[in-house]
Amino acid sequence: MMDTYRAVVDKRDQRAFLPKPVPDDALRRMLQAARMTGSSKNREPNRLVVVRDPARLRAMGALSRFGAWIADAAVAVVIVQTERHEFDAGRCAQNMMLAAWSDGIGSCPAHLPEAELARLLGVPDGLHINRVIGFGYIDPARMAAPRSVARTRLPLDQLVHWDAW
Ligand SMILES: Cc1cc2nc3c(=O)[nH]c(=O)nc-3n(C[C@H](O)[C@H](O)[C@H](O)COP(=O)(O)O)c2cc1C
Repeated sequence: MMDTYRAVVDKRDQRAFLPKPVPDDALRRMLQAARMTGSSKNREPNRLVVVRDPARLRAMGALSRFGAWIADAAVAVVIVQTERHEFDAGRCAQNMMLAAWSDGIGSCPAHLPEAELARLLGVPDGLHINRVIGFGYIDPARMAAPRSVARTRLPLDQLVHWDAW
């Protein structure tokens, strides 16, 4: 099992996957990680649509060029919220991605058009689609990040302000 700190700092977003399914036990750990994620006032607004059907994954990937790679994911998890709460969704997504990464499974968030995705998945009106996360075993031959997103980070001292802005 991976050290948590290493899992956090070493996890890169991956969009190229091998045609290898995610085992049920690993998937269960990812979903438990989502379930156990704290939410504001413990209101638990997150619900999860777990898509493994290849035809449905292809249909999802066809909805946006930013998420075309979802078509080749082993599984996609759609975070649907009973009430909009971006931070709760973000925490949930990151915990799922870290649980997967600790099992050697790669992932990346994707933005797919909500209305079309809701129609495709039968998500009722009144619920809010927040984000889609694609998961799979990383294809080492194709793991370089798209040129549009350079894999660098700002230096820490540009991010941190001590005791006040
Ligand atoms: C809210 C959010 C939305 C994102 N949407 C997309 C997307 O639609 N398609 C995509 O390929 N990557 C998407 N990403 C992944 C970012 O491009 C990625 O997090 C960033 O480039 C850093 O990647 P790295 O940790 O591998 O350096 C998204 C990330 C976040 C946090």
